[in-house]
Amino acid sequence: MLPVKKFVFSTIILSFSLFCVNTSFAQSARLKENFDAQWRFHLGDPVGAEQPGYDDHSWRLLNLPHDWSIEGTFSRDNPATPGGGALPGGVGWYRKTFTVSEADRGKLFFIDFDGVYMDSRMWINGHYLGERPYGYSSFEYELTPYLHIGGKNVIAVRVDNSHQPNSRWYSGSGIYRNVWLIKTHPCYIDHWGVYVTTPHITNNEAVVRVQTTIRNRLGSTRNLQLQTRIEDATGKTVAENSVPLDAKADSLTVAQQLQVSDPHLWSTDDPYLYRVVSRIVANGQTIDDVITPLGIRYFHFDPRTGFSLNGKPMKIWGVCDHHDLGCLGAAIHERALERQLQMLKKMGVNGFRTSHNPPAPELLDLCDKLGILVMDEAFDCWKRGKNPYDYHIYWDQWHRRDLEDMIRRDRNHPSVIIWSIGNEIPDQWDSAGADIARELVGIVKSLDTTRPITSALNDPESPRNSIAHSGALDLIGYNYDVGAYDHFPENFPGMPFIATETTSALETRGHYDMPSDSIRVWPPRGNSHEKMNSDYTCSAYDNCCVPWGNLHEDALRAIMDHPFASGMFIWTGWDYLGEPTPYPWPARSSYFGIIDLAGFPKDIYYMYQSVWTQDTVLHIFPHWNWKPGDSVDVWAFYNHADEVELFLNGKSLGKRHKEPGQFHVMWRVAYEPGELKAVSYHNGQLVKTAVVRTAGAPYRIELIPDRSEIHADGRDLSFVTVKVVDQHGTLVPDADQLIHFDVQGAGFIAGTDNGNEIDHTSFPSHDRHAFNGLALVVVQSDGKKGTIQVKATAEGLQPAFINLSAQ
Ligand code: GAL
Repeated sequence: MLPVKKFVFSTIILSFSLFCVNTSFAQSARLKENFDAQWRFHLGDPVGAEQPGYDDHSWRLLNLPHDWSIEGTFSRDNPATPGGGALPGGVGWYRKTFTVSEADRGKLFFIDFDGVYMDSRMWINGHYLGERPYGYSSFEYELTPYLHIGGKNVIAVRVDNSHQPNSRWYSGSGIYRNVWLIKTHPCYIDHWGVYVTTPHITNNEAVVRVQTTIRNRLGSTRNLQLQTRIEDATGKTVAENSVPLDAKADSLTVAQQLQVSDPHLWSTDDPYLYRVVSRIVANGQTIDDVITPLGIRYFHFDPRTGFSLNGKPMKIWGVCDHHDLGCLGAAIHERALERQLQMLKKMGVNGFRTSHNPPAPELLDLCDKLGILVMDEAFDCWKRGKNPYDYHIYWDQWHRRDLEDMIRRDRNHPSVIIWSIGNEIPDQWDSAGADIARELVGIVKSLDTTRPITSALNDPESPRNSIAHSGALDLIGYNYDVGAYDHFPENFPGMPFIATETTSALETRGHYDMPSDSIRVWPPRGNSHEKMNSDYTCSAYDNCCVPWGNLHEDALRAIMDHPFASGMFIWTGWDYLGEPTPYPWPARSSYFGIIDLAGFPKDIYYMYQSVWTQDTVLHIFPHWNWKPGDSVDVWAFYNHADEVELFLNGKSLGKRHKEPGQFHVMWRVAYEPGELKAVSYHNGQLVKTAVVRTAGAPYRIELIPDRSEIHADGRDLSFVTVKVVDQHGTLVPDADQLIHFDVQGAGFIAGTDNGNEIDHTSFPSHDRHAFNGLALVVVQSDGKKGTIQVKATAEGLQPAFINLSAQ
């Protein structure tokens, strides 16, 4: 518990002074306009496309965010390689023509890009603005001096993702995140110019420190004020502070301290958000304003007892994920990301690692709202690369800027609790790695000292690991290496521990290799002649993992068994495009996910749910379509019960209970078709039942939307699950019919998928095979209100129709 300390309501004006400001702009506050609509796009590298007069009328018209790679065709020959998702890269251009009205004369104009993959170069009206190689950084250019006020303006963007491979996973290509046009008064709050911290928190009060950087381009105005106010979740003002700004300079940083009494703390169970409203006021008029999220929370990483949030000990149950959104590619869709996080949260996840790069800003907004603790990661390599064209070639020139920008952009999010300066950095094996680590830690600490800094390390205990032993890290990050956990306290006395990456188990949804208790370590190493599956599947029992990883249950147990372990980040929450370990081509996406690429949970999802949540869980698998005489292993994940009984066609096959350290129970069953039923009991009382039945012949299609009413905003999505069922509605577990989708009305098909790691049908296709009984069609609003009719047909099956509504 922190000491209760009364803070004087104080205002500190830092060393600069402010130039006077002209009042003629006093009526206009900041305008942040989404700038995604109506761009022209061309795949190729035409000469002169940066010139305003270039004729682009034949270019494709589209709305951002846009990923041209996801529209392409899978091929092992694409330079990204299957490791990068086997989709095309190349060079592409975007151009947007826009007008600036006379009424805006005198304002400042900025354009903000949340992310462009990669190596973007920009021009406004033929004037070169600059370049940005790192595809995950957010950045801003000022347009003011080059604009035609009252006339037409052309912004041109060249995106170069032609030098490949440059990534160990699917990156996407293009302006794949949102773009914003910002108009401000000449006296304005700087880009990422508000920094909010909570230096003192007790039950009775929280001290909130707000540091605001203001810039000014004009002369002569008095009566300026910086007004900072904290609003609670209902919009009620709970603290306020004003500072006069009437000295002289073009840049000024002001620190204010505000007090919130009886603060409602932010936590993973109750992610309560305040907001900080910062306004520059001139003669009573707001001339600029910025809103910043505020979550009041404190946390601690303890070398002996691990992590605590707001004084309560807890483990971080996290996942690592890459940024792609399955069949939608890298193009940010807020709803698709929200769905990913909601499904993880429902499984009990409370942590997320942005592996291995700065995420879309929306991800952190969502984690703030949903109560997910974030390890925000900057890089996958430093000076020494992992691929011929990855970030190492930009390192010298760009690392400082990219790291600073990530910290400035993300440091107000209550969800962010760890900074990571890198993943499995090859420089960890050079002595120079220690110097770089110290430099990077210095950069981070110059901008934020409120979060510990880690790096995801290999073999941290090895004396050769220069980053681990640099003395620079606040938190030692272990990737894998569970066998070494026991020696952590003696190897790193007084240091806290986090398992930055664990597991790397391999599973294909709906595929089961028996016996379930024989472990496949794939790809086989050394002299092993073990054969992998000829159909490129991995078993969805927890009995397959990579040589450097662990089964899910083993990695989880290791974290539970070590009190000093702050938590874990499982590789991975969702399947992702690229890195199709353990298989080569034709595989093109990962097997690591707890949830498949289409969003269908693999069975192991329910193991975590049974351990990490309070929901009552009883999940049995596999499906019940085998050959008579087969011996089938039946697993159950359960909680809130002391035993589970299994019945086959009404006959008891006995009760089982978990031994300490076990997370499932198993029966070896001589298969006969019919009904398999599990019943869980607590003190002899029935808690829950779960049933799987033998499916008959495929008979009809079923469509189940995750939301049947969506926003008519041109962006919102409905994720429609497609099931192939028998006459009684039982899922046919090996159904693979080719399904055709047709969408009419106020929406369109944004993509289709089925979770199959070797499916080469391109994602925009309206035809998709079911995979192990399931497929997915993603329907997007086209911006109009109305009904969206979704139809699914397949040869030999009864079709399905549903209506969605866009409002
Ligand atoms: C880790 C690496 C991840 C991913 C994973 C696959 O070593 O950090 O990016 O490649 O292996 O198991």
